[in-house]
Amino acid sequence: MEILTLLTAVMFGLLSSSQLVATGPVSDDDRTILLEIGKELSLSFWSSSNSSNYCSWTGIVCSNDSLVVERLDLSGHGLQGNVTLISELRRLKSLDLSYNNFHGSIPQSFGNLSELEVLDLSFNKFESSIPVELGRLKNLRSLNLSNNYLSGEIPDELGELENLQEFQMYTNRVNGSIPLWVGNLTNLRIFTAYENELGGHIPDNLGSNSELQLLNLHSNQLEGLIPDSIFSMEKLNILVLTQNFLTGTIPTSLGNCKGLSSIRIGNNKLFGNIPKEIGNITSLTYFEADNNNLSGEIVSEFAQCFNLTLLNLASNGFSGTIPPGFGQLNNLQELILSANSLFGEIPIPVLSCKNLNKLDLSNNRLNGSIPPEICSNSRLQYLLLNQNFLRGEIPHEIGNCVKLLELQLGSNYLTGSIPPEIGRMRNLQIALNLSSNHLRGQLPQDLGRLDKLVALDFSNNQLTGNIPPALRGMLSLIEVNFSNNQLSGLIPTFVPFQKSSNSSFLGNKGLCGEPLSSSCGNINGSGQFSYHHKVSYRIILAVIGSCVAVFVSVTVVVLLFMLRERQEKAAESAGAAAEETIGKPVILAGNVFIENLRQAIDFDAAVKATMKDSNKINVGTFSTVYRADMPSGMIVSVKKLRSMDRTLIHHQSKMIRELERLSKLTHTNLVRPMGFIIYEDVALLLHQYFPNGTLAEYLHVSSKKHDHKPDWPTRLSIAIGVAEGLAFLHHVAIIHLDISSGNVLLDSNFNALVGEVEISKLLDPSRGTASISAVAGSFGYIPPEYAYTMQVTAPGNVYSYGVVLLEILTTRLPVEEEFGEGVDLVKWVHSAPARGETPEQILDAKLSTVSFGWRKDMLAALKVALACTDSTPAKRPKMKKVVEMLREITK
Ligand SMILES: *[C@@H]1O[C@H](CO)[C@@H](O)[C@H](O)[C@H]1NC(C)=O
Ligand SMILES: *[C@@H]1O[C@H](CO)[C@@H](O)[C@H](O)[C@H]1NC(C)=O
Ligand SMILES: *[C@@H]1O[C@H](CO)[C@@H](O)[C@H](O)[C@H]1NC(C)=O
Ligand SMILES: *[C@@H]1O[C@H](CO)[C@@H](O)[C@H](O)[C@H]1NC(C)=O
Ligand SMILES: *[C@@H]1O[C@H](CO)[C@@H](O)[C@H](O)[C@H]1NC(C)=O
Ligand SMILES: *[C@@H]1O[C@H](CO)[C@@H](O)[C@H](O)[C@H]1NC(C)=O
Ligand SMILES: *[C@@H]1O[C@H](CO)[C@@H](O)[C@H](O)[C@H]1NC(C)=O
Ligand SMILES: *[C@@H]1O[C@H](CO)[C@@H](O)[C@H](O)[C@H]1NC(C)=O
Ligand SMILES: *[C@@H]1O[C@H](CO)[C@@H](O)[C@H](O)[C@H]1NC(C)=O
Repeated sequence: MEILTLLTAVMFGLLSSSQLVATGPVSDDDRTILLEIGKELSLSFWSSSNSSNYCSWTGIVCSNDSLVVERLDLSGHGLQGNVTLISELRRLKSLDLSYNNFHGSIPQSFGNLSELEVLDLSFNKFESSIPVELGRLKNLRSLNLSNNYLSGEIPDELGELENLQEFQMYTNRVNGSIPLWVGNLTNLRIFTAYENELGGHIPDNLGSNSELQLLNLHSNQLEGLIPDSIFSMEKLNILVLTQNFLTGTIPTSLGNCKGLSSIRIGNNKLFGNIPKEIGNITSLTYFEADNNNLSGEIVSEFAQCFNLTLLNLASNGFSGTIPPGFGQLNNLQELILSANSLFGEIPIPVLSCKNLNKLDLSNNRLNGSIPPEICSNSRLQYLLLNQNFLRGEIPHEIGNCVKLLELQLGSNYLTGSIPPEIGRMRNLQIALNLSSNHLRGQLPQDLGRLDKLVALDFSNNQLTGNIPPALRGMLSLIEVNFSNNQLSGLIPTFVPFQKSSNSSFLGNKGLCGEPLSSSCGNINGSGQFSYHHKVSYRIILAVIGSCVAVFVSVTVVVLLFMLRERQEKAAESAGAAAEETIGKPVILAGNVFIENLRQAIDFDAAVKATMKDSNKINVGTFSTVYRADMPSGMIVSVKKLRSMDRTLIHHQSKMIRELERLSKLTHTNLVRPMGFIIYEDVALLLHQYFPNGTLAEYLHVSSKKHDHKPDWPTRLSIAIGVAEGLAFLHHVAIIHLDISSGNVLLDSNFNALVGEVEISKLLDPSRGTASISAVAGSFGYIPPEYAYTMQVTAPGNVYSYGVVLLEILTTRLPVEEEFGEGVDLVKWVHSAPARGETPEQILDAKLSTVSFGWRKDMLAALKVALACTDSTPAKRPKMKKVVEMLREITK
């Protein structure tokens, strides 16, 4: 067997070398052209290649029987330059220039590549209009122009591309309308043109003659009807028309498409009923039609779509009751029916959907009471029932909602008192809102256990008694509102209370103390000093709490784009979906962004590593980090995120792009995302593995791993490394959202790399995700101005960096019990002179007493740290300046 292979190889080798002679002139041509291309694009990997056979150069594939270049793949090398020369490779069948920085027009001469079947120019900066010459590429099967700055209209000449099966041009600035000829492309399977400026109607023959499986036109200015034709061939799998001006009704013919898995038609002007035929689409996973003018009842036929994961009909004119049959939807994760005119009671069967994660029935006319079954499904994370006509008491069973992140019960007619079980919802963090009801009685002490909660609103009720001092356990609190109740007594001394505006406490006749102007007479003195010195464990909880808050948001956002990616991948590989492996999880999607690591990373091995507890490096509430040994010998760190949110919102493709772009930001002091994998409902993020762990461990954990001598030079070089990483981020206009010593990783040479950079790009606060408000960074690192600006800025980063530098200098945690209540590391250091302490008493004596030189350096670095942590943002130095100042120390 092996000999046979060998023989074939030898014969093949002979054959090709004889061919080399035979086709000499052709190959010489290609070599010359390739060398010129290599020069123009500065391809170092070609010029350094000594192999005389250019067919073996990176990115080149020649035809089997000659040295004719048939495929050229230069994707993902960050290239610039003039690509016109490539059109000299006349016999090219496939050209992939995606993920580079090419700009200027797409060369007209590409129209000369008459044998081209695949052309991928996506993820570049090509501008001006699509050249009409591309219409001459008669053999083209796949054309990808996505993610450039192309403008003008889609040229009619492309109508000649009869063989076109996949046409993608999303995220450009193309205007005009979708040409009628698109409907004549009988081979078309995939057509995406979302995020452009297309207007006019969707051609009413689109899909009528073709195998159309994926149609994605969201975020354009399309008008008119959703044409019946797109459902006529019954092949459609994914339909995304969100965010246009489409009108008319939803065609009943959509019921023909048994394979439809995703329908997203929100943010249009559609009216009429949802056709009952929706129940015929048993494969339906997502149905999103929010923000339209749809009306009638919510059809019970949805209950037949047993794979339904997300149903979003918010902000329409639906009336009637919620079908109890929805209780059969075991895969349902999000049911969003807010802002309609629904009435009746909260349907108890729906509460038992075992995967339900988000239930949003707010702003309807629901009546009845909140049923005790409310959290019989303990997975619920979002329960939004505000602005209804709900009566009765809040059931004690609310305490079963242990996973809840947000509870909105405001603006109802709820009576009775606040059940103390509310303190069992220890994960509550986004908001607890019981405002504008008829609640009576005292505030339960147990509220103090909600140490992750950011926003609390009990306003406009009839609550009585004191604000219990135990509420000071709510260490993450930022917004609070107790106004318009009958509360009395002294407002406890607690920073979030005193920092609030007085309107948070107004309308309570008996309340006194700050921030209200009414003083409390002689109760004052005793109340103020009695709660010091018991902060430690709470502070630790708060640290965990805020890390979790960041993590939730990150996880949610990361999953959002991954699920979207997975959805699109699924469509693209619809044919290949059959390959299923028994016993091990099927990998649904995955990508390694860094080209030269593709070989080294084995997805199966990464997945397998996460199945073994012994590989665990780090466990958090929402993610677990594993060490994964690849068959290639490489070790990677795998961050496993649990699926928790499947909301599909606009512009996630931008986030995929960001992640990929970020993976190209190479700086020695930044951790780059290497790739991701999705299987079942699990998402894995791949990073480099760092055997020396985090800076936090290095400084604060004395384990065997970190059994090293006090070493100031190493610490200083770590400090400089972190500063350089951040200076680079600021240079490319990226603000880090969670700088802490726990997010600084150390490689085998103790070179410092800043991690979690991706969250900064994935979380775009302008997108208004609810959980964004919970992002402030880690406790102890949050700049003071954040309390009122709610925005992380470059000077805010400098502050957080200053805290890291103080940790390095003092070997103390950013918050320690020893500092006293309300005093963190920054305050402790800044107030040292006032306490009569010298800087030497602040610095880690194990280091500063080693030598005069070290002590001098440390005092100089302390000056930098003090400047960085100045309470006035404008007075803090720029990150670049920090690097300079620290470098000065080493001289
Ligand atoms: C290529 O060949 C030159 C001279 O023959 C040699 O100096 C150089 O090291 C070689 N480069 C590689 C990458 O093999
Ligand atoms: C080239 O050869 C490989 C195997 O040697 C074969 O799989 C492939 O189909 C051939 N391609 C063409 C274009 O003939
Ligand atoms: C690229 O080079 C061609 C000639 O080879 C020239 O006509 C064209 O203008 C150049 N394009 C750009 C963007 O510089
Ligand atoms: C190649 O394309 C350019 C621009 O479209 C055209 O002017 C030229 O004649 C073409 N050359 C050949 C050999 O087809
Ligand atoms: C461009 O589109 C083609 C056709 O759908 C697809 O195969 C290819 O993966 C896309 N390229 C990128 C970089 O996404
Ligand atoms: C399309 O955009 C171009 C500029 O890129 C503009 O000149 C043209 O008028 C626009 N056409 C329409 C129909 O808006
Ligand atoms: C589409 O095909 C039909 C029938 O072949 C033809 O009559 C029509 O002109 C074509 N439309 C366009 C815009 O090419
Ligand atoms: C499709 O749905 C309609 C309305 O619910 C129903 O009458 C019909 O029987 C269904 N057809 C199939 C094939 O399931
Ligand atoms: C429902 O989902 C499962 C798992 O993804 C899949 O195997 C099954 O084919 C789906 N059912 C339908 C009717 O599409």
